[in-house]
Amino acid sequence: MSHSSLEQHRAHWPYPRIIAHRGGSSVAPENTLAAMRAAKQNGCRGVEFDVMLSADRVPVLIHDETLDRTTDGNGNVAETRWQQLAALDAGRWFGAAFAGEPLPSYADAARLCLDLGLWANVEIKPAAGLERETGRIVASMSAQLWRTAPVAPLLSSFSTDALEAAAGTAPELARGLLVEAIPSNWRETLARLSCVSLHCEFRHLGVQQVGAVKDAGYALLCYTVNEPEKARELFGWGVDALITDRVDMNP
Ligand code: G3P
Ligand code: MG
Repeated sequence: MSHSSLEQHRAHWPYPRIIAHRGGSSVAPENTLAAMRAAKQNGCRGVEFDVMLSADRVPVLIHDETLDRTTDGNGNVAETRWQQLAALDAGRWFGAAFAGEPLPSYADAARLCLDLGLWANVEIKPAAGLERETGRIVASMSAQLWRTAPVAPLLSSFSTDALEAAAGTAPELARGLLVEAIPSNWRETLARLSCVSLHCEFRHLGVQQVGAVKDAGYALLCYTVNEPEKARELFGWGVDALITDRVDMNP
């Protein structure tokens, strides 16, 4: 990302302020195309979702390292090939109405975002040991998939190795650092990775920290905020955007 573009992000938050968590996980199964459609139908303009690599290095949407909770398969995502993943049911666990909903590839999810006009916060969610490879592949595919789009996605991760690899592969794509509580070395880490944003768990956040992060010129996001009253308070503190399961939230 060029210096001027970084400054632009720091001056103001150019993306939606309400972002559907895992695609929109209160009304449809998380990390599916159905969730994104539901988010759009409920008026959301942005979605967050988790991207992990299959055994044959195809990026797919899933949160857990194992398939058991959110699909009818089992075992590790990173040890299962895409052809097998593509045949799984990722909807029935959530409700009979979603039976047959597939586990999407990242490419399919990106195309749907572009079709629906949804902005994307792509969380790079590497399986253990695949941090750099996941960062590289997701960044390179993101640059390709959004090459003609008016607004590029924001790549975020808890893994600093994944973010470093993403920065090396597609430096022009904006990056955000995910944390639970804000660590004492946040300034150094954000600077080292040329991030534009810090994404923290809202329960650990205090108003003074918001001021410090904003004064340093970074965007601040909170997850996973499902109470409108809390959302209003956080926006009042100066938080830029919220990641929520409540796709209908209008604080
Ligand atoms: O990106 C915010 C949030 O999704 C991080 O937590 O575990 O839901 O991916 P998790
Ligand atoms: Mg996530």
